[in-house]
Amino acid sequence: MSKISTYPTREERDNPFSFSVRETAAKYKSVIEPYYSDPKHHVKLFHGDCLKVLKYVHDVAPEGCVDTIFADPPYFLSNDGITCHAGKMVSVNKGKWDKSKGAYENHVFNLTWLEACQKALKPNGTIWVSGTSHIIHSVGYAMQLLGFKILNDIIWYKRNAPPNLSCRYFTHSTETVLWAAKNGKSKHYFNYPLMKEINGGKQMRNVWTMGAPSRAEKTFGKHPTQKPVELLYRILQASTKQNDLVLDPFCGSSSTGVAAMMLKRKYVGIDQESDYLDISKKRISEIIADPHLFDCLREDEKLREKLNL
Ligand SMILES: C[S@@+](CC[C@H](N)C(=O)[O-])C[C@H]1O[C@@H](n2cnc3c(N)ncnc32)[C@H](O)[C@@H]1O
Repeated sequence: MSKISTYPTREERDNPFSFSVRETAAKYKSVIEPYYSDPKHHVKLFHGDCLKVLKYVHDVAPEGCVDTIFADPPYFLSNDGITCHAGKMVSVNKGKWDKSKGAYENHVFNLTWLEACQKALKPNGTIWVSGTSHIIHSVGYAMQLLGFKILNDIIWYKRNAPPNLSCRYFTHSTETVLWAAKNGKSKHYFNYPLMKEINGGKQMRNVWTMGAPSRAEKTFGKHPTQKPVELLYRILQASTKQNDLVLDPFCGSSSTGVAAMMLKRKYVGIDQESDYLDISKKRISEIIADPHLFDCLREDEKLREKLNL
């Protein structure tokens, strides 16, 4: 019987998302078989619990291999409340994955996946995490406990937020997106000149006004908490370079993947629901086939040339 080494190959170390399944990696086989792979465009989607995939990534690249992570985790707000959608009263429930397990359990969950993401980041890598008051304080506290360096809290102001039906609260019209570096030593990348140019020559502030995803972004079905491509496009422009590896551990319909393809970044998405990965696959194929689909977002291209970026 041949001796099986427990060490990853050089290829796996250098490019853990090549996921070449060897005998030694057999224990990971079920988590590292990609659900969808497009090597030409550097895209891989994985079906399952992101913690399992991230565990594999850490085992094969303990020093980290991801440049930037965008995470849109469960907000844990599907607890039988109501909300307004297209002028109608509807249930707020998104799915089982979004049901609260209680404040303590929710916080342990945030700590666990954030720690796994921190390990996956390269030393100078950064993470963006979106959330509302339901989770963002837990996420921020977990980041502090884990030694991330919080760089910014972006306020996404939703110009077309739905009204508050109960009339007992102010209308919710913002989400927070925390941006953090792996740790205090990280020398993070920030495309300051481009952000300034996009903002008409003035320093860009941390309040971003953006609408909900357009109809064109929902051609292949809706994800109940889909993020607008515009938001991901801004995030990736600000914090990544061409060919960087972008990871989304809760990818849903892969708005992150669409923005990554538009900007020629590598993309790995993970989700535990195959229906959402099917939407992801179609959206990614669509933008690869028609890179001009969301050209209205590309105000940056001429600026890049001008700034020689
Ligand atoms: C808030 S949604 C993300 C939506 C996404 N940003 C988009 O634009 O479509 C969160 C996603 O996380 C997935 N999810 C929840 N827990 C997970 C886990 N432990 N591992 C992988 N995916 C998970 C859910 O299926 C859901 O699609």
